[in-house]
Amino acid sequence: KKPLVYVTRNIPTELSKAYEEKFTFFCWEEEETPVPREELRKHLQIADALICMVSDSIDKLLIKDADHLKIIANLAVGYDNICIEAAKSRGIIVTNTPDVLTETTADLGFALLLATARRLIEANNFIRQGEWKEWSPYLLAGADVHHKTIGIVGMGRIGKAMARRAQGFGMNIVYHNRSRDEAAEKELGVTYVSFHDLLNQADFVVSVVPFTHETKDMFNSHAFQMMKETAVFINISRGGVVNEADLIHALQSGVIQAAGLDVFKEEPIQKNHPLLQLPNVVALPHIGSASVETRTNMWKLCLDNVAAVLNGESPKTPV
Ligand code: GLV
Ligand code: GLV
Repeated sequence: KKPLVYVTRNIPTELSKAYEEKFTFFCWEEEETPVPREELRKHLQIADALICMVSDSIDKLLIKDADHLKIIANLAVGYDNICIEAAKSRGIIVTNTPDVLTETTADLGFALLLATARRLIEANNFIRQGEWKEWSPYLLAGADVHHKTIGIVGMGRIGKAMARRAQGFGMNIVYHNRSRDEAAEKELGVTYVSFHDLLNQADFVVSVVPFTHETKDMFNSHAFQMMKETAVFINISRGGVVNEADLIHALQSGVIQAAGLDVFKEEPIQKNHPLLQLPNVVALPHIGSASVETRTNMWKLCLDNVAAVLNGESPKTPV
């Protein structure tokens, strides 16, 4: 009997077909709703491999019942949605999709930074709503990006790719990371500073840190208070690193200028959420790595990892 690969979304058949002789694929076919937990649990009891999304919570209890599972392949670089300890204790390999999405995610990060600084979404809405009556000097005037200071929190692959883009804009680049990265400092001309100094100095504070116990709520009222009144906060990592109530307060009361957010504590964020009522917020539905090319490469990497593990080989990108 062929090993069973459970996929929590429709995998494009042109990608899975190369593997169909060896494996049986079973997909959750609904595009609009995620697989219900009970349904997922049932499939995990018999599956040999799982391909899952950031939006699937693969917790201890699900893993406990997954008697045949050998690999969990996350279609994402972040893996805070998976209980790594539980997987490890059962000998289940977890893989993610680093590298293939680095440049695409940094493109989105920079697009979001520019859109927030220069108020692109507000401007687009303004014109579509027929409000453009006259040209005027400060109409929708935003903040400059070029030659300002960017503070990158998390100097991993995506942080470095953000730094390369910032170089092109002539920006001064400071960063904070758990450990100093002297190679990056030489290569990219970035300066290591404490978290406190970064918040003090940066015109753009960009979160690229993974979500862990240490980073949970690190952007809270203390952090926002330390930022400039003109600061723009950008988050392309995980919503959990932000205290959203504190962010809302900071944006409403002018503690900081604006925020560009691709990620939220609860996803999907609801339409009536206070963050979405603020004119100085640009909000995106977690699309950091969402280019057609990169999503295809992420699927391929997941399939590659699954095939390796089911063949008894080492996967390319274990976490
Ligand atoms: C998406 O958020 C990812 O971690 O790849
Ligand atoms: C993700 O790949 C990161 O290291 O930033």
